[in-house]
Amino acid sequence: MPVELDLRQVLETAAAAAREAGLLQKERLGSEHTLSYKGEVDLVTEVDRACEDLIVRRIREVFPDHSFLAEENQYPEGDPALRWVVDPLDGTTNYAHGFPWFCVSIAFERGGEILAGVVYHCMMDELFSAVKGEGAFLNGRRMKVSQRAPLRKSLIATGFPYDVARDNENNFDNFIELQLAARGVRRAGAAALDLACVAAGRLDGFWELKLKPWDVAAGTLLVQEAGGRVTNHAGEPYSVYDHRILASNGAIHDEMLRILERCAAR
Ligand code: IPD
Ligand code: CA
Ligand code: CA
Repeated sequence: MPVELDLRQVLETAAAAAREAGLLQKERLGSEHTLSYKGEVDLVTEVDRACEDLIVRRIREVFPDHSFLAEENQYPEGDPALRWVVDPLDGTTNYAHGFPWFCVSIAFERGGEILAGVVYHCMMDELFSAVKGEGAFLNGRRMKVSQRAPLRKSLIATGFPYDVARDNENNFDNFIELQLAARGVRRAGAAALDLACVAAGRLDGFWELKLKPWDVAAGTLLVQEAGGRVTNHAGEPYSVYDHRILASNGAIHDEMLRILERCAAR
């Protein structure tokens, strides 16, 4: 008989690991970093790796049989049906430059379904958390997406893939059209935090291309549990393994979709 999974314990473990990693990020912010490159502009610092090691270690202390899909390392061990999806430091470019906008993102997936997630923004000591079906919370207080509409009065966000210089699918077209239609577009450099901000009603929408599951796994659950809508750019149900994400308060979703569809058809 499989042991019943305690999602409270899952969430508490994720939150504790995220807080510990966040503390490490804060302590080492502004110090001399050892940079390595995954691509021409795709950086990784020693702090990304140290945070991932710490998070995996902490989770394994509580759930030794679970598996991991994380950004900096491969983890072949563990039950693939019980998997943690981890971005140890989302916003690495910001971090390496001392720009204080980055976070930890940890989600838990069972049989392909995201059941719990946390995003921790250490510089503001803000923990965004959600368990599927139980709502989304910011430092323990329930979050709700905004009700703002139309797009003309909305603040939205996006990001650009690391291969913008090499691939035509670079988000520039979408950016121009959505910037013209919205009150403002922000490009702050941490996708998981953008999603957390949509969930908290600080942003009204977010779209991006070519994100990885660890960028979005926790954040999409936050948005959904805060009452928002998440689809791909064709308006279909979104999976964290999809290529294109659109997350919003729901009220401006169709308006954003129409613009993204128009750009894709060019
Ligand atoms: C990046 C950030 C950024 C997004 C990139 C991601 P990383 O993650 O989320 O906002 O535009 O596509 O790769 O590399 O800082 O973990
Ligand atoms: Ca990331
Ligand atoms: Ca990262």
